[in-house]
Amino acid sequence: MTTRADRRPVGVFDSGVGGLTVLSELRRRLPDESTLYLGDNGRAPYGPRSADEVRAFTSECVAWLLGQDVKLLVVACNTATAQALPLVRDQADVPVVGVVRPGAVAAAAATRSGHVGVVATAGTVTSGAYPVAIGEANPAMIVSQQACPTLVPLVEAGKVEGPDAEREVRGYLEPMLAEDPEIDTLLLGCTHYPLLRPTIERVAGRGVAVVDSAFTTAIAVEDLLDALLGRTDLSGSARHRIATTGDVAAFTGVAERVFGDRLPGVESVRLEATVSLKA
Ligand code: DGL
Repeated sequence: MTTRADRRPVGVFDSGVGGLTVLSELRRRLPDESTLYLGDNGRAPYGPRSADEVRAFTSECVAWLLGQDVKLLVVACNTATAQALPLVRDQADVPVVGVVRPGAVAAAAATRSGHVGVVATAGTVTSGAYPVAIGEANPAMIVSQQACPTLVPLVEAGKVEGPDAEREVRGYLEPMLAEDPEIDTLLLGCTHYPLLRPTIERVAGRGVAVVDSAFTTAIAVEDLLDALLGRTDLSGSARHRIATTGDVAAFTGVAERVFGDRLPGVESVRLEATVSLKA
C-alpha cells in the first residue's frame, strides 16, 4: 500500500501508569510509529469518580494531546473509554480508539465455556460497557463482573507483587470464581491490571485464561492506520515521549517495570482546566 508517511505521533492516554501496558504492545507491533503518552497520575484513580468528573478530566487530557499534534488517539483507560468515548470522538479531529471493544473481542475469542469474568474499576463496572460490548461480540455469552477498587491505587504505588497484592487479588477473585465456576476466561478490564498479571494468574489458577485489551487494541490501531492514515516508516528513528500530571519519580519507578531501559525521560505536565465541573 502507499504510505503517506504521516510522521506525527500516536497519542495514548490513561489516568495513570496502566496505559503503559497498551503503549508497550503498540510499540512492539508498530515500531516505526512515534508515540506520545499522557498519564493523569495527579488525579488517579478515575475508577471511583463520578462520570462527569471522568469526562471532564478525560477531555482536558485529550485537549493536551491534540495540542501536541497527535495523528490518532488511543484512550488506553477502560474507565475513560466506558464513560467518555463518545465525548472524545466529538472533541477530536483525529481517529480515536478505545480499549473496551478490543477487550471484549479478546475475551470472546478466548472463552470456550462462554462464561467470562470481567474485573475492572467501579466506574467501568457500573457503566455496563463490558456486558454490552461482549454481548455485541457474541450474544450467547454470560458475563460476571467484579469491581476491584483497591487495585489501581496498589499499582500506582508500585506494589504489583508481594503480600498486599496477593491479599487484594484473592479477596476479589476467589469469591467470584467460587460463585461462577463456569468462568474460564478472566478479562482484565482495567489497563492497570496486567501489571498484576503474575499474581492474578496464580490466584485464578490454570483452568482460567487471563486476557487483556493490549494486543487487540494494537491491532485496532494498526487497522486504522492502514485504512485511514498510512504507515510511517521512520526506519528506527521513531520518537517516544511520556508525560505525567503527577509525581515524575513515582511514575518512573512503576514505568521502568514495563519499559526497562527503553523508558524515555518522563516529562511533567500541567493541564489547563478547560471544563468546569460546577454549573
Ligand atoms: N487504567 C484505568 C482503566 O483502565 C484505571 C482507572 C482508574 O484510574 O481508576 O480503567
